[in-house]
Amino acid sequence: MVILNHTKQRSSSSSPIHGHNKYKYDVFLSFCSKDTGRSFTDHLCNAIKHANITTFFDDDLIETGVYLKPGWESAIKASRASVVVLSENYADSQWCLNGLALILKQHLTVIPIFYHVKPSFLEDAMARYRRVMEAMTNEDKRSQLAEKIDRWNKACTQVSTLKGMQLGFDRRETKFIQDFVKHIYHRLRISARTPLPLDRRFHREMKQPNLFKIPFQAIKSCTQNFSETNFIAKGGYGRVYKGIFTWANHVNQLVAVKRLDVTGLQGNKEFHIELTILSQYQHKNIVRFIGFCDENKEMTLVYGYESNGSLDKYLRNTAKSGGPSWPQLLKICIDVASALDYLHNHVAEKHRIIHRDIKSANILLDENWNAKLADFGLARIGLANQQNTMVITNPAGTHGYCDPQYEKTGFLTKESDVYSFGVVLFEVLCGRLACALNYHDEQRFLHHLAPTCYKKRELDKIIDPRIKKDIKPRVLSKFSAIAYRCLHETREERPTIAEVVFQLKKAMKMQV
Ligand SMILES: Nc1ncnc2c1ncn2[C@@H]1O[C@H](COP(=O)(O)OP(=O)(O)O)[C@@H](O)[C@H]1O
Ligand SMILES: [Mg+2]
Repeated sequence: MVILNHTKQRSSSSSPIHGHNKYKYDVFLSFCSKDTGRSFTDHLCNAIKHANITTFFDDDLIETGVYLKPGWESAIKASRASVVVLSENYADSQWCLNGLALILKQHLTVIPIFYHVKPSFLEDAMARYRRVMEAMTNEDKRSQLAEKIDRWNKACTQVSTLKGMQLGFDRRETKFIQDFVKHIYHRLRISARTPLPLDRRFHREMKQPNLFKIPFQAIKSCTQNFSETNFIAKGGYGRVYKGIFTWANHVNQLVAVKRLDVTGLQGNKEFHIELTILSQYQHKNIVRFIGFCDENKEMTLVYGYESNGSLDKYLRNTAKSGGPSWPQLLKICIDVASALDYLHNHVAEKHRIIHRDIKSANILLDENWNAKLADFGLARIGLANQQNTMVITNPAGTHGYCDPQYEKTGFLTKESDVYSFGVVLFEVLCGRLACALNYHDEQRFLHHLAPTCYKKRELDKIIDPRIKKDIKPRVLSKFSAIAYRCLHETREERPTIAEVVFQLKKAMKMQV
């Protein structure tokens, strides 16, 4: 048996953000047409530069308009990312195609602004352009242009998939620019994992991490060499085992060990994010973080063991014997909402954490049915007081729980967590999982079924019979109303998590 000395180590190497700046510019700013007449790009460029983001911006373009200048190719190559202002009269221009073809060839990170045009405008423009190319009657000209057409075609396809922020007439330009600059910071940080002023500011706000490094030998021995008898569950990036640590003061502690599947490259990032967040943010409704190990490709995270396992287990079990009672379930919902309220509104003055994977499998229950939110591998840290906290180009999370707006647009906001939490509320009320594979009709997905039944006043048909007999009618109407609002298509219509906590607590008062 390995005995652990509980002396905490501070380490700076655990930050997920590292790297160096091999680029001359952070962004290559490209634009054209209508926006320039209103100096939008000029203002934008000044704001970006003011925020210490090095920018290549060629104002001559304002005069000349449509040509790709020779110096630009090297400027694009020397930039980490491109910001492209897409406005009317531009998206279907040759310059747009030539410029974007070059940019897209170089950069993985292309951050577009849809300037008074809808993203669909771009798709339409590309489709129009394709038709023009196809209709070229002069065969000679066609063959001369074959290479160019091929390049344009590729750009068309890529351009149609670009996602970004949209400035409409209903938004103030100054506010938009402010938000956009923060957005660029975030995208650059994700793309290059390079410290930028924003990170420095964030690190100043962060509490000192509480990092306890555990030798791999100790982890191996406490889980009986990761034996099958200690195995608890398999998650997205590895397996979770139960273990027992013996501390130097002879206290034994039950732990859960998440061992990363070393063959998966993706898990590395998740590991560091979870470590960064859990080592700094502890809350009574967040899984207890004990320590970690990062030795010779072995990456593990160690948590306090929660003896009642995860909530999905009780929703999966159709017999539901021995599961939590209705008042206990209501308390579980309050606990999780409180954890989310902490992440969204109280971790730091200027920042918030968005969990991104709220679901019953990530809600742990201790021996007294207190709930603890777990699994922070997909979480993102963003600026508070900002509507669109960030854009992640590949929406992540779990289908059936994931905010449809986020799935559609790639924009992540705190309301995406609220949506997923709404699905969990209905899972609890209906005593089933968000996605029930045994159904092949409209009952399969709860995020469709529950709001439909709610609107038709037919919730009765889908409520868990065990809850039906215990829940007071007033509590049912309060609980279902807040769950329904969380699932609103439009984000602005969804409640804040603080309001959800408030309403659920009110429901609890009515119940007891
Ligand atoms: N501290 C813990 N106590 C008990 N069970 C746990 C604990 N942590 C995780 N588990 C179990 O392992 C599963 C996967 O853990 P999770 O952190 O969600 O990892 P993944 O990122 O792989 O989904 C959970 O759904 C839960 O059933
Ligand atoms: Mg999980």
